[in-house]
Formats: sequence, structure tokens, C-alpha cells
Amino acid sequence: MNTPICDFVKKYNDSNFHRLHMPGHKGAPLLGFEQYDITEIKGADALYEANGIIKESEDNASSLFGCPTFYSTEGSSQCIRAMLYIAKLLGRNKILAGRNAHKAFITAAALLDLEVEWIFSNASYLSCEISKEGLEQEIIKHRPGAVYITSPDYLGGTSDINAISEICKKHKVLLLVDCAHGAYFKFLPESLFPVDLGADMCCASAHKTLPCLTGGAYLHIKDEALASYAKMALALFGSTSPSFLILQSLDKVNEYLSLGFKDKLSALILKAERMKKVLRSKGYTLYEAEPLKITLCTKAYGYTGIEFAEILRSKSIECEFADPDFTVLMIGITSNLDYLEKALLSITPLAPITVFPPKIEKPQRALSIRQAIMSKNKKAVINEAQGNALASLSLSCPPAVPILVCGEVISENAVKCFEYYGIEEIEIVSE
Ligand SMILES: Cc1ncc(COP(=O)(O)O)c(C=O)c1O
Repeated sequence: MNTPICDFVKKYNDSNFHRLHMPGHKGAPLLGFEQYDITEIKGADALYEANGIIKESEDNASSLFGCPTFYSTEGSSQCIRAMLYIAKLLGRNKILAGRNAHKAFITAAALLDLEVEWIFSNASYLSCEISKEGLEQEIIKHRPGAVYITSPDYLGGTSDINAISEICKKHKVLLLVDCAHGAYFKFLPESLFPVDLGADMCCASAHKTLPCLTGGAYLHIKDEALASYAKMALALFGSTSPSFLILQSLDKVNEYLSLGFKDKLSALILKAERMKKVLRSKGYTLYEAEPLKITLCTKAYGYTGIEFAEILRSKSIECEFADPDFTVLMIGITSNLDYLEKALLSITPLAPITVFPPKIEKPQRALSIRQAIMSKNKKAVINEAQGNALASLSLSCPPAVPILVCGEVISENAVKCFEYYGIEEIEIVSE
């Protein structure tokens, strides 16, 4: 597969042109990577009006993923806003969403003034189990224009998108999937790529699980009719200075994916499965996660997730995410699984910790998400905030998944949950 963006920038850099344009470094290697950082000069195409090398590269990505695919240099966050904007353009203003939605969904709902109904589940706030029957009941009750789910979620849990899309189709509801953590799903021995399983649109962060620079992501769309809105939607939320370094990495990832990635991924998964088996046999409890995540339920092993992450740090291993209950590790083709296995097996199990998170109760809503985010607010310590409406998202990043959503009333249960997850101060609506 060719790499038109990389080729153009390399040729431009090799030409020693005087760069009388942005960026300010002019390609001079003061930091070390400037020479390949250009802007939308003649021949370099323009991300949101692509008809040259960027279009060619996006076409390469589209052929790899088997559906119209568009680049984002501002992560899945930008794609989530774009998907929801497209849904709104099509008159789908009410969205039925899994409660474990990422912050980008909430801020998009505020910006676009969407009406959101939540699907709650008994799982951790990071997961949302959605059954076919449960979803159908919710659709009949709320009559949404679109269903929005997060799969995989931060712990690695996945939804049955085949079953969900069947219900969505039956009720003529769009299905939008936040697949930020699953950019590699298309290349599994059996594809779990949401568009292959019936989703209308999905985002995927190439930078999370593929060798791409941070910020590189895809907006995947089922068909050309919906895809005709993609550039306009992405442009609405994107910077007018998209990063050419990120574009080059997306361009190069196409080549990488076309050079035996599927086989390399299969081999990695086999190795990871074997390792997960060994860990289980040695007393570890693992969360049922997608292949490239190892999610340790550390309390069963005698540690909080945060303590466990600290031990791993002392062994030169940095995890993706840790909270009181879980330590999440994300592996890739270049990960040294032998080292990881050895390190994990060298940690002595202790008596299990039997303190569990408070069950998050369904909150009362005082204001819409938009009203809450746009309202005057003030800071409040958590144990004095009860009874007020939450104004802005109070969360840690990662995982950037809210315990309580803006506009909801802070109940005694919400206070307990915030305290459990170490959030001490929040913003409440002040008038
Ligand atoms: C589930 C989920 N969705 C969306 C995003 C946003 O992705 P990005 O960082 O690529 O904008 C994240 C980021 O961590 C995420 O975890």
C-alpha cells in the first residue's frame, strides 16, 4: 500500500525549500522532529477539503476497513462530536446512550443540545451491560433517534453489536459506537469491527491500539450517503491547523496494517491468551476483556488497583489505568509479554480485600446537560455538595467516564461514590 502523505512531506523536506509558512519552526531541527511538520501548502491537500494526497490516503484506509473512513487528528473525541452532529442533522435529537459514555459524548450533547436518555446497568460505572431485550424496552419507552454505545469499554468489556444493531434496525434507530479502544478489531481472526456488525458509524482511536501518534483516529461510516456529511461534521469541531505529523502516522499505519498485521495480531493474541491462562492458574482474577487488554481484578489478589499499579511501577511497568478495583494493562505487538508475566508472577498474593464500590443509584435530573454546563457554577467540597446539581464533569482522566452527569442531583449515594473514587471537589450549579 502506498503512503502519499509521507512521500509528499519527505520529498518536500528533501527539496530544501525556504519555508515561508507555518509552523514557526520552519522545519529547522531545534526540537528534532520539525522537518516533517508542515501545513496545508500547495500539493499537501487540506484535511477537510481533501481531494489530493490526503484523500488518496483516506481511500487506502477505507479499503483496509471496508467502509468510508475519515481521518481525525484530534482523537476519537472529534469523531464522537462529528457522529452526533450527523445524527442531529438527520433529525435524531434524542440519543439513548449507555451510561459508561466518555466525556466527549457529554460535551457533545451539551454543544449540540441533544436530549439524552441513559441505559443504566448494574455493572461498574465503566461498563454497561446491554441486553437485546433491555435495549428494545428502552427504545420503545424513549423513542430515540439513535443509540450510542461504548464498546470496548475502559475495562475491555465488549457489547454484542450484532444483536444491538438488529434491534436498532428493527426500530429504524441509528447505531453509533464509540470504539475508541478497538481500532484493531477489524483485523481479528473474526472481525469485531462495529461497522461489520451493523453499526451505522463508529469512531476508533488509531493511537490507542495501533502504532499511530497520539491524536490519530478514524471516523468509520457504513455507507456513502451518511459519509457525505463526514468532512463537514469533522471540520465543525476540528482545528484549522491539523497536524501533518499525525496525518503521516495515519498514512503510515495503512502500510503497516497491509503488511501482515493480521497474522502478527493473531500470534500476539495466542500468546496473550496463554499468559492470561497462566495468571489465572496462579491466583489472579482477570476481567473478561478484549484481547489486547489485561484487566486485573486486584482486590481478589489482596491489593487495590492503585497499590498494584505502584508495585508494577517499581518493576518498570506503567499501566494504562488503575482505580481502587482494577489495574488495566494494554498490550501491543511490541510488548514484552515474557517480562510482564514474570513481573506479575513475582508479586505475592495477599488476603483478598472485601471492600467493594458503592452501587451507583439512578440519579434525579434537575437540568439538561447543556443547561448545567452553561450555568454559573462554583466549587464545592464533596461532602457539602449534596442536594445541588452537578455543573461540570467531575472526573479523572483516564478514564474520563462520569460517575454523575452534569445537571443531575448530587445524592447521598453520589457523594459516597465520588468519595470512593477519590474525587474531593466538584463544581455545582450556583444559580
Ligand atoms: C471510551 C473512550 N472513548 C473516547 C475516548 C476519546 O478518545 P481520544 O483520546 O482519541 O480523543 C477515550 C479516550 O480515552 C475513551 O477511553
